[in-house]
Amino acid sequence: MAVIAQKCPEIKVNVVDINPSRIAAWKTDQLPIYEPGLLEVVKEAHGRNLFFSTDIEDAIREADMIFISVNTPTKTYGVGKGRAADLKFIELSARQIAEVSTTDKIVVEKSTLPVRTAQSIKAILGEEGNGVKFQVLSNPEFLAEGTAITDLHDPDRVLIGGDQTPEGLEAIEALASVYAHWVPREKIIQTRLWSSELSKLTANAFLAQRISSINSISALCEVTGADVDEVAYAIGSDSRIGPKFLKSSVGFGGSCFQKDILNLVYLCEYFGLPEVASYWEQVVLMNDYQKRRFAQNIIHTLFNTVSGKKIAMLGWAFKKDTNDTRESAAIYVTDHLLSDMANVSVYDPQVPEESMIEDLNYLQTRPARENKEMLTVHQDAYEACKDAHAIAIITEWDEFKNLDWQLIYKNMKKPAFLFDGRNLLNHEELEKIGFKVKCIGKG
Ligand SMILES: NC(=O)c1ccc[n+]([C@@H]2O[C@H](COP(=O)([O-])OP(=O)(O)OC[C@H]3O[C@@H](n4cnc5c(N)ncnc54)[C@H](O)[C@@H]3O)[C@@H](O)[C@H]2O)c1
Repeated sequence: MAVIAQKCPEIKVNVVDINPSRIAAWKTDQLPIYEPGLLEVVKEAHGRNLFFSTDIEDAIREADMIFISVNTPTKTYGVGKGRAADLKFIELSARQIAEVSTTDKIVVEKSTLPVRTAQSIKAILGEEGNGVKFQVLSNPEFLAEGTAITDLHDPDRVLIGGDQTPEGLEAIEALASVYAHWVPREKIIQTRLWSSELSKLTANAFLAQRISSINSISALCEVTGADVDEVAYAIGSDSRIGPKFLKSSVGFGGSCFQKDILNLVYLCEYFGLPEVASYWEQVVLMNDYQKRRFAQNIIHTLFNTVSGKKIAMLGWAFKKDTNDTRESAAIYVTDHLLSDMANVSVYDPQVPEESMIEDLNYLQTRPARENKEMLTVHQDAYEACKDAHAIAIITEWDEFKNLDWQLIYKNMKKPAFLFDGRNLLNHEELEKIGFKVKCIGKG
């Protein structure tokens, strides 16, 4: 919404949220999310045509077009538990729009939703709608965290799905003309509603599948002496495969990949396609395996016990240039190590201690008090690594490449092990210093 406001100064953009502390933060220089370039965009438009408020009803009444961008987490209860998307926030938003609206509106699904959700939204809007007419569009978001602003400024494509009726096509054009302020028309793809909804889940499933595929090969590389980075380069040079998203790692995280694939799996099961469901579920299972394998490798290498040993984790965010920790591999690797009675010390340049503890508590593996006792959070990498028996690189933050690794080595327990979960560092140099390096997918 900030980028729309930046690129379309004549359009008034009201961002509303039920969470008052988030709205308050959007009005300061300490935005509620860390994203390179975002603060500059917000500052350019804030107060001009971009406004933040908790007055949701007022914003609904005033709007011609409403983007529903609420969270759609995996259900943790009832039917579809652990798989289906929890649509209660979507439904609440739709009901509120229906109750409050007094003029016709275009309602845009911006959240990632299961295919045919628009049908439910239409049903809710239709029943309560006070004679007001609504058009529902699907406009999924393809930005990646960490590069959100460049992705939005220069997207590969914008996708808009809508009803193929005169009113539906008119609504699609209204939204397309917003993006056309800065996105070339040929990049604005227009489809039927259901195709648009399903494309978002499919895009994330394909992206995650590439990571799980190369990670599965990394396990084979380790036992055969092949090098996964060489294999990735060799196969990625084939233009049919392409080089992107072939970096082997400790496993993918983030709020979207796992949630969206599980949602796809649930949909396939619901529509009676068990073979398709289990095909896609394997992408998530392989990712779980990779995280577990990484943690087990640490324990195995440290002479089969990490009890009482200090393990330094560099990075907690699920990827660099974000403070988002949802489904980060760090959480699962740490949980595994804590269960083996390790003392884990962490440094991440953007993630605060409360988030890390909250992430661990959410797993409910042990009492919250124990998580707090066993996890130590540091403000710099050198402190986190001091007297450690091993270091695990979890997030590919650029600053880790420029650390004084000689100094870190000097202050560690020997033998000093380093587990590079991102294949980020120059391993030959580290071995020359004296580190015993273990990386992903190298025999
Ligand atoms: N984060 C991403 O990079 C990304 C990328 C593409 C798509 N998506 C999709 O976008 C959606 C939102 O993701 P997110 O990461 O921003 O989630 P989030 O949890 O960070 O933000 C959702 C916000 O919605 C607010 N909210 C909930 N119910 C509300 C209501 N009834 N009225 C007003 N506000 C309400 C919450 O308070 C919260 O601030 C999800 O469907 C996600 O899959 C996210």
